[in-house]
Amino acid sequence: MHVLSVSSLKGGVGKTTVALGLASAAFAQGLKTLVVDLDPQCDATTGLGAVGEFKNTVASVLKNPKHNVVSASIVSSTWGKVATGSVDVLVGSPRSIHHDTPHPTVRQTWKLEEALHTIEKQYDLVIIDTPPSINALTRTAWVASDRVLIVTEPGIFSVVAADRAIRALEEVREAITKRVRPLGILINRHRPASKEQDFRVQELNEMFPGLLIPEFLEERAHLQQTQGAARPIHTWPGEGAAEIADFFTDLLKRALDSFEEPNEEVVQEKPKEKRKFFRRHKRGKQGPELVTIETAIEELGEVVEDESQPVAIEELEVATEAWSAPAWSDDEQIAKQEEVSTQTGNWTFKLEIEKPEEER
Ligand SMILES: Nc1ncnc2c1ncn2[C@@H]1O[C@H](COP(=O)(O)OP(=O)(O)O)[C@@H](O)[C@H]1O
Ligand SMILES: [Mg+2]
Repeated sequence: MHVLSVSSLKGGVGKTTVALGLASAAFAQGLKTLVVDLDPQCDATTGLGAVGEFKNTVASVLKNPKHNVVSASIVSSTWGKVATGSVDVLVGSPRSIHHDTPHPTVRQTWKLEEALHTIEKQYDLVIIDTPPSINALTRTAWVASDRVLIVTEPGIFSVVAADRAIRALEEVREAITKRVRPLGILINRHRPASKEQDFRVQELNEMFPGLLIPEFLEERAHLQQTQGAARPIHTWPGEGAAEIADFFTDLLKRALDSFEEPNEEVVQEKPKEKRKFFRRHKRGKQGPELVTIETAIEELGEVVEDESQPVAIEELEVATEAWSAPAWSDDEQIAKQEEVSTQTGNWTFKLEIEKPEEER
């Protein structure tokens, strides 16, 4: 399973359009695809034909990311009725706004990852449509993602928003997970004859060398029509629609190729330090990964030694990632917490502690 977030800190620039275009390309290729609608506006859910009253939604999942809740919050899109293939949607809810706090704890930001871990075997690709802000919901999406696609328009405000988005993503990478990386910045609503737009495109190219996706999505009425009809663009008749469909097929290929690139920052040798650490089971990891005790406390909130479990007591030399508490964590609360619980949701944590000097 690979996870891609489609984001922008500005509304109306085409996040949902791009998320659905990519879902359509994945649908056409027969990939098992899940669209996660994290935007309280729920446009992706509507665009996938999932309309109605839902008892379980992404808001329930963020509250309780257990497998049964996640499964109950996923429905099939109606796209399967117009062509073979299937795309599911983790349905959006206006109630998800309650999870969009400006200062989430690190533990909160791992909730979606925890949820996706429970359905990892069921999907090839997960596309997350995020709200237009850098609050908890977007961070939660990024922490669960392998790549983030930033969508922008070639206008001054959108360029500023793209800059903020790239910086915010870098902050999440520094503070929480190096797994997530930008896929690139995609220009939407491009008009080839506009001088102002040319200027902004050049500006974006200079600001983000190597990040600007060289193919731009043009302003096309077909996109609105397919959204209105809750149909995948790849099944819409006509040459114009076929051109847009090809654009999204190529963009999906770019994402799929990027997922296969090794992440040098994650595999590179880390400085060796003597640290207390935990083993953590996470999506995409065969075995457990090591996290420092400080990270575990941040994520779990509470540390409780499980005395029923034998603890490996030895001095451990482990490669550790540099960790700095993110600006939005509640330091005071963390300081009060003295112990770490060994189990949260579907994450198993095994406590391994350094042997004190006198016991060796
Ligand atoms: N390239 C495009 N050509 C034509 N209409 C577009 C294009 N991109 C987006 N739109 C339209 O603009 C509106 C806003 O796009 P949307 O994807 O909902 O933005 P966001 O999810 O960022 O708020 C929608 O009505 C959508 O159909
Ligand atoms: Mg949207």
